[in-house]
Amino acid sequence: MSRVFRRRLSHWNYPEIVRGEGVYLYDREGRRYLDGSSGAIVVTVGHGVPEIAEAIREQAGRLAYVHGTEFTSTPMEELAALLTPRAPVDDARLFLVAGGSEATETAIKLARQYHVARDEPGRYKIVFRWPSYHGATLGALSISGRPSLRTAFAPLLHEMPGIPAPYAYRCALPGCGPACSLECARALETTLKAEGPDTVAAFIAEPVIGASAGAVVPPPEYYHLVREICDRYGVLFIADEVMTGMGRTGKWFGIEHWGVRPDVITTGKGLTSGYLPGGAVLVKGEIVEALKAGGGFHHGFTYSHHPVVAAVGLAVVRYVERHGLVERARVQGAYLQQRLQRLLDLPAVGDVRGLGLMAAVELVQDRKSKAPYPADARLAQTVQAEALRRGVNVYASGGQVDGAGDLVMVGPPLTIEREQIDEVVAVLGDAIAAVTRA
Ligand SMILES: Cc1ncc(COP(=O)(O)O)c(C=O)c1O
Repeated sequence: MSRVFRRRLSHWNYPEIVRGEGVYLYDREGRRYLDGSSGAIVVTVGHGVPEIAEAIREQAGRLAYVHGTEFTSTPMEELAALLTPRAPVDDARLFLVAGGSEATETAIKLARQYHVARDEPGRYKIVFRWPSYHGATLGALSISGRPSLRTAFAPLLHEMPGIPAPYAYRCALPGCGPACSLECARALETTLKAEGPDTVAAFIAEPVIGASAGAVVPPPEYYHLVREICDRYGVLFIADEVMTGMGRTGKWFGIEHWGVRPDVITTGKGLTSGYLPGGAVLVKGEIVEALKAGGGFHHGFTYSHHPVVAAVGLAVVRYVERHGLVERARVQGAYLQQRLQRLLDLPAVGDVRGLGLMAAVELVQDRKSKAPYPADARLAQTVQAEALRRGVNVYASGGQVDGAGDLVMVGPPLTIEREQIDEVVAVLGDAIAAVTRA
């Protein structure tokens, strides 16, 4: 019996992976899997890239650790110098952490402390969206619209105001039809007024919603209106780019598709491409200056500004640039999105959507009513298992319809070739057909 406390405690047969190369993973028995989702939409540069491994070895041998409160390091300085000009944030500064949830916690505390520093201590609320996901820690979970992950922890969560996300496939907002009426964005203003704008510190949103709704792309005017409303009420706009950042959608950061500049961007996953746990907060210079004038930022982790994490981030950004992977994500992404549309021929596929190399298929029991399968059928997970059995790894999620709902996400390394995209789509289609056949 394994002594590992596994993430899935039942219904899962764990392959033991011993090696990764490019878009492929290999298990102990020598079976090969095409990693169609980069795990949880993480890997950008591919598995087993020698120069990223070498960057870890080299930096760990030279300097593995210093505490970020009293020291800086060469890779930390170089990463900040390289990444901040690529972020659509004015005069950006970079706060390095060890994962997406840490980035969210940092952004929440940053927003709060910014207002305190500016003599507006009444502002503490973070407005978030249903559905959404910003992390597993209690602060981040308090502003995550994912009922299935929140329920057990409800007494531990902070009460924060939530608004509907622009989830067109299931929009139930009065006045909204086939063409979005932007009621979802206007809900931000209504909520700010109801809460009292002078109690709200920030609004947080994933530019393209990740696993909580499955690659949901907003209408074109959505973020312009959000930006306008945030400005009108003195509320910071935090773009959570943990999944959408670092080239995944065909731009360095997803929000660039709409030409909007957030005050804060959080990122993770693709920053280190999974080679080490990493995350970052990119912050508008003016905010950092306000904190400085207000006595500093009372926050940090033992592993903030870690030199080896910084070295990996640096190596990944350089690799992405040298190999043109952002543009590649745009081109291969357009191909993936187009190929996935053919899955709409399957009766259990309700919707297919996404941007760049971030896509999702929403499964339904009935296409007309959009009724989901019962939650205990674990359909997305069953499709994932079937695809894995056929040699392709996809990412199962769901719970977006009152705890039910099945989503299968595709988000391969940005290095994927067309024939490999064809294989992911074909196997996913076969897996869906096999498990939903009556
Ligand atoms: C949009 C988004 N934000 C935050 C997180 C949390 O990141 P982590 O799991 O690295 O803590 C995730 C993870 O899936 C995410 O997709």
